[in-house]
Amino acid sequence: MKKPKLALQRVFFAFFLLLMIPAGALAHKLPAGFKGFKDSASCAPCHVTIYNEWSMSMHSMSDRKSDPAHNAVFLAFSQFMAKAGKKAPYFCGSCHSPAAAGRPASGAKEAYSSVPGIPCAFCHGVESMSGGKLFNTYSLSTTTTSAGAVSGVSAPHPVSKWSFASPSEMCLGCHGKMKNGKGTVICSMDMEGSSDCISCHMKKVPGTSTFGVAEKSHYSHFFPGGHDRQMLKKGISLSLTANARKLLVNIKNENPHYFPSTSPMRAAYVKVDVLDRNGKVIFTSPAPMPGQKELFMRVFTAGMKKGVPPWMAEKAVDSRIKTGETRTLTYDIPKGAARARAVLYYRLFTPAAAAKFGIPARMAKPVKVTETGININ
Ligand code: HEC
Ligand code: HEC
Ligand code: HEC
Ligand code: HEC
Ligand code: HEC
Repeated sequence: MKKPKLALQRVFFAFFLLLMIPAGALAHKLPAGFKGFKDSASCAPCHVTIYNEWSMSMHSMSDRKSDPAHNAVFLAFSQFMAKAGKKAPYFCGSCHSPAAAGRPASGAKEAYSSVPGIPCAFCHGVESMSGGKLFNTYSLSTTTTSAGAVSGVSAPHPVSKWSFASPSEMCLGCHGKMKNGKGTVICSMDMEGSSDCISCHMKKVPGTSTFGVAEKSHYSHFFPGGHDRQMLKKGISLSLTANARKLLVNIKNENPHYFPSTSPMRAAYVKVDVLDRNGKVIFTSPAPMPGQKELFMRVFTAGMKKGVPPWMAEKAVDSRIKTGETRTLTYDIPKGAARARAVLYYRLFTPAAAAKFGIPARMAKPVKVTETGININ
């Protein structure tokens, strides 16, 4: 019975690796004389529309207090660490509540942020990014920074220019990549494809960015993604074709990143039905299970174990639809078929993950993204 013991040791070793990295290496760099982040509410009187958009975005609900899913996964991670006799570091805060207790939160003692979410002052305080071993971090400035900051802007606060080559690059300090202590990739936008994030996730919408400034439009700060059905619809297209014997279901990724994108929690699947002349269902595709062609998601493995949490992951089986890919699923057409339909569903969390981590079940409900049908003759 030597083998299981060794495997267990490897798991713990991976955690020691993570813990051995000095907290400073995971934290953002603060400028000399930094006095803490301003609360986003302080920007609201002048940037009212942007503040309202941000308040409805996941960027304002990313911390443990306002995102029950994030909190649940962190608690599951803590329990895992406790079994190894260790206290889990809240390194998540580096991206989920970077202004916790007035300072970047890597290893922060406070689990709850005093300045909630990803505040205006964090994104508009970053100056540049540094690549890290497990994930990237930022260097911060004492002034308000922006890509648009040019000499023409006259603000009641100092405004300086980001050193990023393009505004999109400023997203990659948090969205670029994350590895676990074993070096397994948990998510990687770098791998999925580079693109102009702002052009899709911060579209120009009507209204001024600043009270009293004559402007017809501004960059939206609502940041639609997986929580937004309309955005999901834009990411994927579904079509059916049929010949004498085969039904083809074509699923095209319209994203510049994978579908579903980056987060390892997400899953998408298709359900195909074939009906006879009377509308009776005579064939239904199998339920979406890992290993089945109808399911698009990443499943982490460790040794022989499948579906392990990110912190145990050694490898991943990835069936997501790649950037630019059209996936075609083929089915035999049964006798008596008159019509076929396909529906594409999306889940923020699978029921299995929700149960394992204690994520509220309401967050694991499937969302119908798009559907299509054809007549067969
Ligand atoms: C008292 C009003 C006021 C407050 C409070 C305020 N701002 Fe501003 N801000 C302005 C004005 C006015 C401008 C210039 C806008 C222009 O000319 O387009 C500006 C410009 C900016 C710009 C630059 C926009 C560009 O085009 O590059 C950013 C970014 C910004 N503010 C962020 C913030 C943040 C973040 C906060 C809160 C920490 C904040 N502001 C608080 C009034 C304010
Ligand atoms: C390097 C930055 C980074 C770190 C560190 C990080 N996350 Fe995240 N996390 C993100 C980003 C970015 C997203 C959104 C990605 C997406 O939706 O594709 C996210 C999304 C999530 C989600 C999905 C939330 C929802 O409501 O949809 C969960 C759960 C989560 N993270 C848990 C954690 C936990 C727990 C930790 C620490 C053990 C952690 N994350 C550490 C960047 C990070
Ligand atoms: C300080 C870290 C950080 C920065 C910088 C950042 N994000 Fe995020 N972003 C996150 C985290 C963390 C989440 C997930 C929050 C959650 O669900 O708990 C997220 C969520 C999102 C989502 C998903 C919303 C959804 O419905 O699930 C989108 C889209 C997004 N970010 C786009 C961007 C873009 C575009 C930029 C650059 C302009 C950017 N982010 C910069 C940390 C960051
Ligand atoms: C996730 C990062 C992020 C957060 C959080 C964020 N911003 Fe921005 N903001 C950006 C980016 C990126 C741009 C577009 C830069 C460009 O291309 O000029 C921008 C643009 C702006 C502009 C100029 C808008 C325009 O259309 O000219 C203002 C003003 C601004 N932000 C204020 C705020 C305020 C106030 C908040 C909080 C309520 C906030 N931002 C939160 C990333 C962020
Ligand atoms: C051509 C438009 C487009 C561009 C450019 C784009 N995205 Fe997306 N993105 C989408 C669509 C559509 C979705 C929804 C489908 C999905 O989740 O795969 C999405 C989803 C996301 C999500 C949400 C995933 C989740 O789990 O909730 C994040 C985070 C994200 N994008 C970040 C980025 C970042 C960072 C960039 C820049 C490197 C970027 N996107 C560039 C269209 C775009």
